[in-house]
Amino acid sequence: MVTSNNSISLSGMTSQSNAPLPNGYQLLNYRIDKQLSRGGFSLVYRAYDEHNNLVAIKEYLPSALALRKDGYSVEASSDDCQAVFRYGMRCFFEEGRALARIVHPNVVRVLNFFRANETVYMVMRYERGRTLQDQIQSHKDTINESFIRHVFGHLLNGLREVHTYKLLHLDIKPANIYLRATDGSPVLLDFGAARQTLTRDSPKLNPMYTPGFAPPEQYQGLDLLGPWSDIYSVGASIFSCLAGVAPQSADARLYEDKQESARKIWHGQYSDELLEIIDWCLRLDPQERPPSVFALQKVLIEEPKKVLEEPKNVRKKNFLMNLRETLGLGDR
Ligand SMILES: Nc1ncnc2c1ncn2[C@@H]1O[C@H](COP(=O)(O)OP(=O)(O)O)[C@@H](O)[C@H]1O
Ligand SMILES: [Mg+2]
Repeated sequence: MVTSNNSISLSGMTSQSNAPLPNGYQLLNYRIDKQLSRGGFSLVYRAYDEHNNLVAIKEYLPSALALRKDGYSVEASSDDCQAVFRYGMRCFFEEGRALARIVHPNVVRVLNFFRANETVYMVMRYERGRTLQDQIQSHKDTINESFIRHVFGHLLNGLREVHTYKLLHLDIKPANIYLRATDGSPVLLDFGAARQTLTRDSPKLNPMYTPGFAPPEQYQGLDLLGPWSDIYSVGASIFSCLAGVAPQSADARLYEDKQESARKIWHGQYSDELLEIIDWCLRLDPQERPPSVFALQKVLIEEPKKVLEEPKNVRKKNFLMNLRETLGLGDR
């Protein structure tokens, strides 16, 4: 379970958080500029490469399993954790290797990955912008139907590419969708496959499902996962663009489905087509969801038959004007 400070609870105990690498630290050819974020499995830094270009570097550092010694190197926090820590590192490495093959404008570009400090680092192209989650939280008024169709229509190009490589994302949610400051185009970040394998094979780690975005089959057994699982998470992400929060978590839905249909909640505020798309993706039975990402994309980018007026609290500006205004300013 991810706690509020993003550490993982380990059999009831909360692990201490490890210090990040210090600013200015030289990691092979890269100079750490600052820490960008800390998750339960990794830390992300902004850094400069040898040509002074910005990159983002992700460090494998599962807080429940590992400690940073002497300020830099990482080791398993106990003998018991050793095997799982090593196994997780291998998965992280494999994830980096798989991702490095994908070159697509809507998928984060992996530039390099290497071992150092007794752990693994993944170097990515640095993207300026903000996550869709930040956008929902701080600029909800920009999130109208055309924004949603535009962002997800493009994002699905990236997801199709991912699936072409026989990979699944397994952690699609607004916090893992980045919107570029330059043109608002979306980038898929943070592939969860390593975490999935790690939590499956380690009874010590509580599962890393993100409640509300994970499909029911993610609670039922990994052999049930497929492209339809990412499709559920896309539906949950679109839902949260409208609602500001995720739908009811799928494990609770399996027990007692209290999730009202999007069609009912927002009837008259968005096109019927968009609301039906959300409900279609969020079907508990994978076979009742869109049959492929391509099929989903096709309906998503089609113009709705009847263009509805935007909800009254939405400013009458077009999508690009809104995005430029809200994204173009920040430099993160
Ligand atoms: N390539 C990147 N460019 C810029 N920022 C990034 C990049 N990758 C990650 N980040 C930043 O780090 C945060 C966490 O990254 P993410 O890959 O989602 O890791 P996790 O959620 O496992 O900590 C992102 O929300 C974003 O702010
Ligand atoms: Mg993330």
